[in-house]
Amino acid sequence: MKAKLVIITFGILVFYGCTSVSEDDLIENTPIPDDTITYIGHVKSIIDNNCIDCHSNPPVNGAPMSLITYENVRDAVQNRDLIARISSDNLGFLMPFGGPRLPQNLIDTVILWEAEGLQEE
Ligand code: HEC
Repeated sequence: MKAKLVIITFGILVFYGCTSVSEDDLIENTPIPDDTITYIGHVKSIIDNNCIDCHSNPPVNGAPMSLITYENVRDAVQNRDLIARISSDNLGFLMPFGGPRLPQNLIDTVILWEAEGLQEE
């Protein structure tokens, strides 16, 4: 009886141990948060992880502006087509520069941030 239990437990461990979940799956499947989207809560980390290699202060690699502060990013949404740039299918226009396109849930988070009024926190 005990042996059977051990075998079953071992079997379950092996079975679940082998179903791998890649980091990409986790990122792609992270749901869009259902509270109000804010710069501090949601958007800053997206920009920090994907944009400020070039859009630093001062900006480098030919980028025309910084995306370091709330005001920087809000201004880029309002006056520099930031959302069109991250949503584009045209690699010549897309940001991050040269691609790849951000995971769709991150693009949707920024779109929702604008729709909800570009709140800071
Ligand atoms: C590898 C460097 C690099 C990265 C990373 C990068 N950019 Fe850019 N960005 C540039 C360059 C170079 C330009 C100017 C050329 C152009 O407009 O295509 C630019 C232009 C822009 C513009 C247009 C500015 C204007 O006044 O026309 C926006 C908006 C922008 N980037 C947003 C972003 C966002 C948002 C991210 C992150 C999701 C990002 N960029 C990541 C290099 C980069």
